[in-house]
Amino acid sequence: MDAIDIIVTKRDGGELSAAQIDWVIDVYARGGPNGSAVADEQMAALSMAILWRGMTRAEVSRWTEAMLRSGERLDFSDLPAPTTDKHSTGGVGDKITLPLTPAVAACGAAVPQLSGRGLGHTGGTLDKLESIPGWRAELTPAEMRRCLTEAGGVVCAAGAGLAPADRRLYALRDVTGTVESLPLIASSIMSKKLAEGTGSLVLDVKVGSGAFMKDAASARELARTMVDIGTDNGVRTVALLTAMDTPLGHEVGNALEVAESVRVLRGGGPDDVVELTVALAREMLAAAGLNGAKDPADALKDGSAMDVWRRMIRAQGGDPDAPLPVARERMEIPAPATGRLTRLDAYAAGVAARRLGAGRARKEDPVAPGAGVSLHAKPGDEVHAGRPLFTLHADDPARLERAVEVLADAYEIDGPQERLPLVIDRVTA
Ligand code: URA
Repeated sequence: MDAIDIIVTKRDGGELSAAQIDWVIDVYARGGPNGSAVADEQMAALSMAILWRGMTRAEVSRWTEAMLRSGERLDFSDLPAPTTDKHSTGGVGDKITLPLTPAVAACGAAVPQLSGRGLGHTGGTLDKLESIPGWRAELTPAEMRRCLTEAGGVVCAAGAGLAPADRRLYALRDVTGTVESLPLIASSIMSKKLAEGTGSLVLDVKVGSGAFMKDAASARELARTMVDIGTDNGVRTVALLTAMDTPLGHEVGNALEVAESVRVLRGGGPDDVVELTVALAREMLAAAGLNGAKDPADALKDGSAMDVWRRMIRAQGGDPDAPLPVARERMEIPAPATGRLTRLDAYAAGVAARRLGAGRARKEDPVAPGAGVSLHAKPGDEVHAGRPLFTLHADDPARLERAVEVLADAYEIDGPQERLPLVIDRVTA
């Protein structure tokens, strides 16, 4: 095998063979600091050729399998409950994992959920949960199993042993302008999801200004590719395309979103967060084969999801009763006019939250757990001149003005109504 032949095949629009894919991923993943038979510059050239030429279904499935094989694969098939998981492609105010995991566990499934940290304008589930005093994201596979057995659900970081080829390739794509390749995004996400050993998977593919995919057509293509990969690898996989043109819920920021999720677990909370949690939970239970299970809407109302939440937080060292961190500074932004709020842009709200300290500009940056934006109105709501539209939360007062700037153009009162439905489409095998 020869890396140059492989690059040239893809550059000229050819299909890579299974043996070529297995070889290039295996050799690249094992490459150490002294290089390997596939150098970074060769993998970068191949990634760019894939970005331009795309991949067939057979190629993308094999590429994912090869990345999966580069590391360990967890196995929870001996647990008494069927396993199911959800993956979101990322958005603003997307705290759905927090109420969803305990709601699904309360209805009889086991939920092993490997999650990530926020980057750019999007939030990360691990950053949100780390605002709970004592809670730990890094678990060994044995600790994951203990949490699943004790609580029914676990949310933790992916260990270094899972899909190490993706770790290396993702870092390379990040600096070579090749993140945006649809087959590379799909195989990157799915190699990690398949490695965590779930029996079924529901994908929440976000569409809109606050999402990776800005339009429904490209989101549908990403969803189709990931559903095909899951299906080809024996995991029952379904995708929902959901709106990310405006933030989910009323809170954007780590501790603010935990508090809002707890309100949902108490049977309250914003309608969009409850509706999406229940829609995804029903899909997860159906994918796990639990069609006659308790309805997750009831689990949120009757306190059983809250009981699982408390067990989950304790199993990972957290105190579910401890007060959450609060930012040192607050600032209210009033509505400039009376009327109906017709637009509230997800991307701008995410950037504002990051500028306030809730997110990161670089992977290694810390986050301020109490920072973020509270949204006092959502599109469709009446607003009144002089009454608060946003509350900004930050530890450092110097951050407030930069968030005010980005929010100034983020909304419209009495403009055209152009909202996406919360659930736009459903993609199945
Ligand atoms: N998330 C991932 O894990 N990989 C990608 O390529 C993009 C988003």
